[in-house]
Order: sequence, then C-alpha cells, then structure tokens
Amino acid sequence: MSDILAGGREPVAGAAGGFGRDAERGAGRGADAGSERAGFYGSLERRARAAEQAPGYGHDSVIACDRLVRIFTADRIEVQALQGLDLLVRKGDLVALVGASGSGKSTLLNILAGLDVPTAGSATVAGCDLLTMNAKERLRYRREVVGFVWQQTARNLMPFLTAAQNVALPMQLNGERRAPGLNKRRAARAAELLEAIGIPHLADRRPAQLSGGEQQRVAIAVAMANNPSVVLADEPTGELDSETAASIFDAFRTVNRELGATVVIVTHDPMVAGEVRRTVAIRDGRTSSEVLRSTLTGEDGTESVSEREYVMLDRTGRVQLPREFLAALGMEHRVAVDLAADHISVWPDDHPDR
Ligand SMILES: Nc1ncnc2c1ncn2[C@@H]1O[C@H](COP(=O)(O)OP(=O)(O)OP(=O)(O)O)[C@@H](O)[C@H]1O
Ligand SMILES: [Mg+2]
Repeated sequence: MSDILAGGREPVAGAAGGFGRDAERGAGRGADAGSERAGFYGSLERRARAAEQAPGYGHDSVIACDRLVRIFTADRIEVQALQGLDLLVRKGDLVALVGASGSGKSTLLNILAGLDVPTAGSATVAGCDLLTMNAKERLRYRREVVGFVWQQTARNLMPFLTAAQNVALPMQLNGERRAPGLNKRRAARAAELLEAIGIPHLADRRPAQLSGGEQQRVAIAVAMANNPSVVLADEPTGELDSETAASIFDAFRTVNRELGATVVIVTHDPMVAGEVRRTVAIRDGRTSSEVLRSTLTGEDGTESVSEREYVMLDRTGRVQLPREFLAALGMEHRVAVDLAADHISVWPDDHPDR
C-alpha cells in the first residue's frame, strides 16, 4: 500500500462504500495527511482529464479490434469463437498470437483477412472497416491491404505456376491490365521479392519441385506482392521441422523490418513466440495476456533480453487475472481493490458476510 494512502485513510472513490479497504477502517486526519491527500486527488483529476482528452481507441494502430464477437451456429448449437476480443497492433509491429486449440486464433485471423465477417464489435485494418465493407471493397482489401500465409503449404501456391509466376499473379489480378512494360515491371518486382526473402535461385521452379520450407518462403513473397500494410500468417511453420521454421521466421522478419509490413503470426512454436517483441495470448475467444520483450545493453556492451508478462485491461476496465494467482490466494467471485498513487492492489474478500 502506498505511503500516501497509508497516511490519508479516505475512501479513494470518494463516497461512503467506495473502494479501498482502508476506507472501511476510518483513520487519522493530520494536516500533513490532508495536504498529501489533496495532492493525490489533484494528480488523479489531472490524469483523468488527460485520459478523457486522449485520442480515440486505436487511433495509432494499424489493426484495431474492439469487443469483437464471432458466433458460429452448427446444428442449432451456438459456438462463441470470439467473445468480445480487444486487440491493438501498431504499424511496424511483429506480433505472435498464441493460445490453446479452439481459443479463436484462426477465427480472428480469418476476420482480419477479410474472409469472414464478425457477428458484432468493430475491427479496422489500415483504416478499412471490416464490418461495413461491400463485396467490391472486400475484394480490393484482400488484394491490396492484407497478405496471407496459410499453414498448408499447398494452399498458398498455384501448382502449375513457377515461384516467380506465383508472386506475379496477385499483381496481375490487381490494377491495370495493359500498359507498356507492365509485365516486365511485375517480373522485376517478383524477382526483387524472391531476392529479399533469400530464394532468387528458386524463381523458375514449380511448387512440386520445392521443399515445404521453400514453398512457405515463396508464399511469403506472394503475400507481399501488392505491398500490403499487414501480413497475416496462420501456423505458417506448423508442417515444418524447427530448423526450417527458423528460416521461415527470418523471412517474416525481413518482411517486417526491410519491407515495412506489420506482421501477425499465429504459432505454437515456442521459438517464434520467444523471438518476437510482443506475444499476445488468446484464451476463450479473448486476448488474455501478453509478453513484451526488450533488448537491454549492459555497460560492458553485452545484450540481454528482458521479458514481462501483462494481463489485458479491456475498455470497460475488466482485467483477467492469471488463474494460478487466484488459486494461490483462494480468490473467487469477489475481491477488494485499493487505489494507490501508482498502482492498484487486489485483495482476497475478507468481508464478514463472505
Ligand atoms: N465454421 C465454423 N463453424 C462452427 N464452429 C466453428 C467454425 N470455425 C471455428 N469454429 C469453432 O470456434 C472455436 C474457435 O476455433 P478456431 O479455429 O478459431 O480455433 P484456433 O484457436 O485456431 O484453434 P487451433 O489451434 O486448433 O487451430 C472452436 O470451438 C471451433 O470449433
Ligand atoms: Mg487455428
């Protein structure tokens, strides 16, 4: 508990019955405590005003999902695959999405890819509203704004086209059909992409002549063909051994750092999840926690990675506390919360009527 509150002893929420266990106990009211309290409330008010004036939810994000719901109905049984999922991804981020089977990862990715429409909530990607797009806009969205890599290598490529032709295909489906030098420009871009991803020597091979890992790298080049803002990948290394998976991950890193795409990868691979700056966990159709990593450089120049896990705070103020924390303290149904100057504490329910 903070020193300020320990001296203050007033209900932090202001009214009788407000939050704060010290509120119930009544407490001293010294002059010093009074001025400290005034300072504390003043700073709270200032912070609350600043928060009200802050720009809207997701204003600086390339992906913004707000209370996203997707309900499937099969044989009259409803499955709530997404149950009010919130997710913000900033431009230029490389994010891993993890979660148990059935937690809603593919459902989310299909919505972000413009292949499926949510039941409720809102989702925008690069300024496109995924709920209100008409068929024509959706087609344009899928061709220009997002690129997609599937787990099944065969699903990503046309079997009868070479790697270079596969990369050029989305460019042909997009935009002008006839212009002098157009085919040459497309071929040049396809060659550049294959070069960037480290497989220029595979340009003339068909998928059947490529290994699974090589096919996935071509698929990444295909996803980048029309220079999308966002690249989405659903278990892109799921069918590959770990060494090959590392090379696929390197290709995504290139796409992210050198070609400037924001990348979201669904993965079970701890290597992938462990190397990205941000890993978001989905549980029961909601984002539940995330791990942020940063590289620290010590005084002697050695680098180390620091890692911290955060739980999600939704827009209505709900947090999902880790199950093991709740179990360790026997917390269920109801907890007491206290506000301090720089943190909020959560206590087991010790009310006599418990
Ligand atoms: N078309 C559908 N019709 C009915 N239910 C569906 C449909 N698609 C997904 N579901 C259900 O929605 C839930 C979430 O599925 P989803 O495929 O998003 O999970 P996931 O996290 O990708 O799992 P996995 O790791 O196994 O790929 C599951 O309970 C699934 O059975
Ligand atoms: Mg899935």
